Formats: sequence, structure tokens, C-alpha cells
Amino acid sequence: MRTSKLLMIPGPTNVPPRVMEALVRPIINHRGPEFEALYAEVFENLKYFFQTSWDVIPFTSSGTGAMECVVSNTISPRDRVLIPLYGNFTNRIKEIVEAYGGEAVTFKVPEREAVTAKQIEEELSREKVKMVYVVFNETSTGVAVKDLKEIARIAHEHGALIAVDAISGLGGDELLVEEWQIDFCVAASQKCLAAPPGMSMVSVSDRGWEVVNSMKPRSHYFNLKLYKKFFVERRQPPFTPVVPVFAAVNEALKMLKEEGIENRIKRHRMCAEAFYKAFEAIGLKCYAKPEFRSNTVIAVEVPSGLKDTDIRRVMREDFGISIAGGMADLRGKVVRIGSMGIVDKSMVLRTVSALECTLRQLGFKVDLGSGVEAALQVFSKYS
Ligand SMILES: Cc1ncc(COP(=O)(O)O)c(C=O)c1O
Repeated sequence: MRTSKLLMIPGPTNVPPRVMEALVRPIINHRGPEFEALYAEVFENLKYFFQTSWDVIPFTSSGTGAMECVVSNTISPRDRVLIPLYGNFTNRIKEIVEAYGGEAVTFKVPEREAVTAKQIEEELSREKVKMVYVVFNETSTGVAVKDLKEIARIAHEHGALIAVDAISGLGGDELLVEEWQIDFCVAASQKCLAAPPGMSMVSVSDRGWEVVNSMKPRSHYFNLKLYKKFFVERRQPPFTPVVPVFAAVNEALKMLKEEGIENRIKRHRMCAEAFYKAFEAIGLKCYAKPEFRSNTVIAVEVPSGLKDTDIRRVMREDFGISIAGGMADLRGKVVRIGSMGIVDKSMVLRTVSALECTLRQLGFKVDLGSGVEAALQVFSKYS
């Protein structure tokens, strides 16, 4: 008999039973009053998740759909977008901008780091762009932007919009969409919200709407103006929504409100800190420089002589825990732990102790219990 499975990948995350139960409710008419009430509730509750009174539009799509929505509603051919590159998802923004005929103005951020306000300031003193589009939490490398508020201020000072892919960070780290004046913020259901995959969302500032309203949308499915019009006039989305996921996300949003977003962020911070301290105690090296470490994704270098695929296999087969491998250039070089959603002390301790045993089993010299001890010290500091 195997213990219950644990998903410690950077999304989709473990989903609490209360949210899973909402998924199996009978399908309802998406053009009827029951769904209209649910849809309106989701709109309202998303504002809390995004910490804003602005519109937050949900889509039936994965996160990439909302990333693309920002571009298709704001960027015309040859419009210039500043995109700092520091991982897979920053590269994806570049590809999307280019697919819509925009000009991606890019620069490479040093390895193991995320972009800083200083770098954005330097670029904007040379380059005139319509938008700055950054990834808040780069899931492929486990780095996070630490001065987003300042980046948004600098973008506006230079007459540019600020768009943020916060898919793997929103709810797990501080991001005050309205206070920081983020014009477009993108998130998805399957990360820190701890809901099933299938819904993405984008918040739009007043400044953002001005630009959207002045343009001919370049995507039919992700036409922001159409979603807004349908919401205002009918409390319905323009196209058939993923009804069960809307019900589940609404339940997850209620759970977020009950916990309080500050408490959720604190829990993510505490669990990430426990992971970092545990891995250091075991003798592993984390990929991100300490000053850029993510609160939600911990990328750990694979010790020399070991294979990432073996580590992941033993974790999965012997301990029932899924962890992720590296992406693109980091394939084979790191393993990534998702510490998000309903992550808590027991999940962290179970993962750390399983990893200690896995490494020992694979021949890496490890003091069994050293990581667990370090993690426990972090939790006792917070209690
Ligand atoms: C930072 C970031 N951006 C974009 C995406 C893409 O989201 P999806 O796979 O839901 O399209 C992910 C998914 O992991 C992500 O972590």
C-alpha cells in the first residue's frame, strides 16, 4: 500500500476536497440564472485575489491564453514591447508578441536573477516602448521579481503600460495590483489558488481599458471588450465556459477569503523558507541567488553524479511525491519543487524527508534528518 499522492510540482497543485466536490456538481445551463449568479460571484471574488476594485476577467483557458489576451488587445504590428529575458515564460511572452507582429525589445538578465527596476530604468532611458511585460515569478528557474512596484512606476514615467504574468506568484507573494498600478495582471486557477486547471484571468486598469477601447481587438476568443459587454449586459461570458471549473474556482476563492490573502502569502513564505533551509542543510544548492528566491517554486541543482530522472522516479514510485524537472536549458540540471496552493508544514516535511531518503538511496551522502531538522526550525520561528 502506498501513502496518498502528493503533487509538489509548480502547478497544477493539490486541490482541497471542498473544491473538488464543487467540480462534480451537475452541469448547469451557462445561459441560465444559476450560472449568471455564479459568474457574478466569481467576478467579485477575483477582485480579492487580485487585490483590486478593477475588472478581472476570467477565461476558459490555461494561463497562456490570458498572457496572449493582453497582447492581442493592446499590441498592433510594429508596436514595441520591452521584455526582460530570464527563463522559459519570459521567452514565451516574446514569442506571443512576435506572433502578433509586435517588436520585442529584449535584454538578458544575468543567470539566477530576475529583472530589477534599475535594469528597466536603463532600458527605458534608451528605448521607447508601448508596454513593459514582465514575469513576476519565473517558474522555470525559481526566481522572483522583488521590486515590481518600482518597475510599474518607471514604466508609467516613460509612458509605457505595465503587464505582469503573475501566474505562479499571485496569492503566494505580495502583489498589490491596484496600489502598484499594474495595468494588466495575468493569473491562472491551478497555482496558488489551489483550484483545478482550466481558468485564466486578467485584470485591467483604467489606463489599460483606455488602450483596449481605442483598438480593434486582434483575437476573437480573447476580445476583452466583448467579455466586458457580455458581463455588464447579461452576467454571462460570450462563449461556453468550463462550468465545473468556474464552480470549483469560486469555492477556492471563498477559501482564500476565509484564510485571508496576507495569511496565505505568509504561509507560502514560511514553507518556501523551510524548503530553502532544509535543502542547504542537506548539502544541495538552490539555483536562484538568495536575493531573487521565489516564494512558490524552489529550483534545486541536481548533485553531480545523480540524474534528475532518477530522483524524480524514486520520489514518485517509493514516496508517492511528484516533483518537476528542469525546463529548456535547465533540463537535467535542476529539479523543481512547487510550494504553492494548500502547501503546509506536513507537506514540506514529507517532501524533505522523502528527498533525503531518495538521495541516500541513490548514493548521495546525506545526514538523514538534517533537512527535516532545519525545516522544523523555520516552522517553530513562525509559530
Ligand atoms: C509564470 C508562468 N507563466 C505562464 C505559464 C503558462 O501557463 P499554462 O500552462 O497554464 O498555459 C506558467 C505555467 O506554469 C507559468 O508558471
